[in-house]
Amino acid sequence: MILSIESSCDDSSVAITRQSDKKLLFHKKISQDAEHAVYGGVVPELAARLHALALPNILEETTLYFNQLKAVAVTNEPGLSVTLVEGMSMAKALSISLDIPLMGINHLRGHIYSLFIEKETCFPMDILLVSGGHTQLLHVKSYEEIEVLATTMDDSFGESFDKVGKMLGLPYPAGPIIESYAKKGNEKRFDFTIPLQRSKTLAFSYSGLKNQVRLCIEAQERLDEQTICDICASFQRVAIAHLMQQIKKAYKERKIEHFGVVGGASANLYLRAQLEAFCLSKKATLHVATMEFCSDNAAMIGRCAIEAYEKKYFTTIEEIQLKPSSKNGYF
Ligand code: KG4
Ligand code: ZN
Repeated sequence: MILSIESSCDDSSVAITRQSDKKLLFHKKISQDAEHAVYGGVVPELAARLHALALPNILEETTLYFNQLKAVAVTNEPGLSVTLVEGMSMAKALSISLDIPLMGINHLRGHIYSLFIEKETCFPMDILLVSGGHTQLLHVKSYEEIEVLATTMDDSFGESFDKVGKMLGLPYPAGPIIESYAKKGNEKRFDFTIPLQRSKTLAFSYSGLKNQVRLCIEAQERLDEQTICDICASFQRVAIAHLMQQIKKAYKERKIEHFGVVGGASANLYLRAQLEAFCLSKKATLHVATMEFCSDNAAMIGRCAIEAYEKKYFTTIEEIQLKPSSKNGYF
């Protein structure tokens, strides 16, 4: 069994995964949304202190598995440095005290493996990763071979939802709230421009759209409930139209057999519906994670760690340090 720990941002999570059949035996996550909501975003120092309280409490519930553990895995990049060290310190302590190997897992690779919890992998797969920190289009051939086809030039997809939410006075994280307000709104009321429409660049960009929404909010005499819903619906329509436009551009000449969507924002049903239609048109199969495993969690880190364990990708206590990101910044 492998014990995995996730603390790259504002979710404290621990999981136990059985190597032989990939079964998830234990998974618990304590989210800090309520504590950060008042600040309109994650406060790293506060997040670190909350991890220091939550992680040992969750760990207490896993002690019955300790004598069966073969390794401990922990998210070691990318993420907030002060929160990553909380999980890493716990993983190091467990590795020393239980005398088991240690594995550092890349958080984005973890999101990819959220598609394969209690399942076999299915590569090659093209994957859209949409989270609070990243927006990437990936061609994944294996654990090691991950090609970044497109990434964001500025804000990430989830971040743009959070920033628009903050402008509208909505609590953090605003993604799910904007999605539910959008259901009650008129998505055609505000005609925001889709970013990079005439550009050949294969990339994502959300800062221009965010500014369009800011100007629109400033131009309103009063922000009544219906106007907020209409802004949410119009913004969501254009934010997702931009994603779809760039995805269609990327695969104009390329075939796809398997397409996956991962990351916290992959829970968005409007996005899932558009991806389903796209996959249908390309005769590809769409893979999504169950809602529970879209946002940050240790189960995806544990599933990824099974692969790392089989490949003996162990690290030493000294090696597992906060490090500058690798060559393409992510993998
Ligand atoms: O993957 P995740 O939990 O954390 C990071 O690794 O960043 O993603 C969190 C992000 C937040 O920005 C949140 O607002 C966004 O995912 N999100 C959504 C939805 N649910 C979460 N964005 C749009 N629509 C949603 N339904
Ligand atoms: Zn994440």
